[in-house]
Amino acid sequence: MEIETYIVKNTFNKNGLDQIEKFGRDYFIPVILSETLDILLDVVKKNNPQNILEIGTAIGYSGSAMLLNSNAHLDTIEYNQNNFDIAKENFEKLDLSNRVTQYFGDAYKVLQELCSKNKKYDIIFVDGPKGQYIKYYPFIKNLSHSGTIIVCDDVLYYGHVINDDFIKHKHRTIVVNLRKFLHTITNDSDVDTKIYNNGNGMSITRIK
Ligand SMILES: C[S@@+](CC[C@H](N)C(=O)[O-])C[C@H]1O[C@@H](n2cnc3c(N)ncnc32)[C@H](O)[C@@H]1O
Repeated sequence: MEIETYIVKNTFNKNGLDQIEKFGRDYFIPVILSETLDILLDVVKKNNPQNILEIGTAIGYSGSAMLLNSNAHLDTIEYNQNNFDIAKENFEKLDLSNRVTQYFGDAYKVLQELCSKNKKYDIIFVDGPKGQYIKYYPFIKNLSHSGTIIVCDDVLYYGHVINDDFIKHKHRTIVVNLRKFLHTITNDSDVDTKIYNNGNGMSITRIK
């Protein structure tokens, strides 16, 4: 598996996002790292999406950033009630609510629901439970069209996915599943995938 470093040259609109990021940091709610957010926004800026799907809203940090840097509508999924409510407030504060549909519930079920509605997205950002990416992949493909870009965060999981070091029991399933996921997306003939080592690793997959 080839791993590259993504170099970002664009600049992005992050107005109003500092407070959301600080809130996440203060209350230990994980949000996307600055270096991987830059990659995500570069992908958004270059592809001019009309519809974006996000798995893992948290408090609406990455979702707001994608909306501020596009004209797209965002569908975003979150199963934690507290995060869902804070995200709602944040979208309102940034005047983005009319461009967001928040789905509350387990991503696996919501993805099934979106597939049954025959939804299609131009960009799909996967940032939910890391051990589940492999289970979500068939649904994600179903929600894609030719040219859809799928961006997945944390795919190298602190380096454990590519190193043979000792992995604590509680992380083992995640690492094993992420390895299966990366093997799948780099060997699937329907897609082109690149893996980057920025942050905790990010994959970018384009549906052929
Ligand atoms: C890393 S955070 C997302 C960060 C966000 N994308 C950002 O950068 O601002 C992952 C989120 O996924 C949510 N999550 C975890 N498992 C989930 C599941 N099975 N279904 C839906 N959401 C889930 C968590 O509650 C958490 O808010």
